[in-house]
Amino acid sequence: AGSADLSNCFIPGDGIGIEVVAAAIEVLKTVAKNNFELNITNFPWGTVFYKETGSYLPSDFLTTLKPFDAIPFDAVGAPDVPDHLSLWGLLLKMRSPLQLYANTRPIRCLTTPRLASVHPSALDWLLVRENSEGEYAGHGGRSHVGQTWEIATETSIYSRHGVERIMRFAFAAAQKRPRKQLTVVSKSNALRHGRVLWDEVATEVAAEFPDVHWDKELVDAMTIRMVQKPHSIDTVVGTNLHIGILSDLAAALAGSIGIAASSNLDPTRGWPSMFEPVHGSAFDIMGKGVANPIGAVCAAAEMMSWVGEERAAAGIMKAIESVCEIGLLTVDMGGKLNTMQVTEALCKALGS
Ligand code: NAI
Repeated sequence: AGSADLSNCFIPGDGIGIEVVAAAIEVLKTVAKNNFELNITNFPWGTVFYKETGSYLPSDFLTTLKPFDAIPFDAVGAPDVPDHLSLWGLLLKMRSPLQLYANTRPIRCLTTPRLASVHPSALDWLLVRENSEGEYAGHGGRSHVGQTWEIATETSIYSRHGVERIMRFAFAAAQKRPRKQLTVVSKSNALRHGRVLWDEVATEVAAEFPDVHWDKELVDAMTIRMVQKPHSIDTVVGTNLHIGILSDLAAALAGSIGIAASSNLDPTRGWPSMFEPVHGSAFDIMGKGVANPIGAVCAAAEMMSWVGEERAAAGIMKAIESVCEIGLLTVDMGGKLNTMQVTEALCKALGS
């Protein structure tokens, strides 16, 4: 680490996204000091841009993004724009053409867990989400709009290619972790086509990883297991919708949605990968300066690791751990500090 020039483009998006991205930039600048060159380009794509131009992204966004090493993103969504327009206008519009098919969401306890049944050491999970198909493939439509017999369909897509590549990614990720353990989340009792293919491909790919112990859990039972037997879980793989829900539960169990990070990866490295906190633009607290910046800063650490700056990544995570340990926390984690104060504490812990 230490020699590379890093060229990142930030897309702060909306709401608290804009507030926490500023924190992540401060932390990255601090860690880059004397270590590596960090060039930051800010793209103001979000709801303000949408209201000005009629589109969340410019038409040439792919060629604009291609040369960058990585893309820190934050959140999109505004109270006066329907959520499906903002999400599909920005985030989901980028994930598919950028081939960001693997989404990783590490979850760890940074403070006392929310439930007495959860021991901090029992909650150290890696959730892997299939990020390109499943329920979020965008397949479907509406007919007879406005009539009493109006119909809307939302079709889930499972391709053998798509399932194979995410299973291989998840088994390989589990193999790299000390416990070498993977849980495949499914719903193949009720969803009898796509989910059966999902399970069959999991079994086939498992044969390539004989040293990984794996099991299968239906998604409803998985919520119970996460709360009651958290120690029985290590790496988890599931579809877009399922991991989207389970990762909010996991983050809440670990302390707050505000601490969870999410990496949208192109494992072939043909396109720049995108790093964001799990949370959204949080209408209820936006503009108040109280958002927890840790999820965005964790995402920055994940990004550093992805681009090979392991020392910087470890430094950021150590700073987060020490700040949490001495109780310098935002309100969502039971503390009293605001976004800026936690950011300052993180930079201080990094030795700025
Ligand atoms: P949300 O994640 O924005 O907020 C859920 C709850 O968690 C709220 O009570 C909020 O105050 C709290 N919260 C979230 N982040 C926090 C942080 N850093 N610190 C402290 N508290 C935090 O989810 P919600 O309310 O369902 O969605 C709001 C908007 O965000 C919608 O437009 C939605 O579509 C969008 N969204 C965008 C995402 C993205 O861009 N990746 C992901 C999730 C939602």
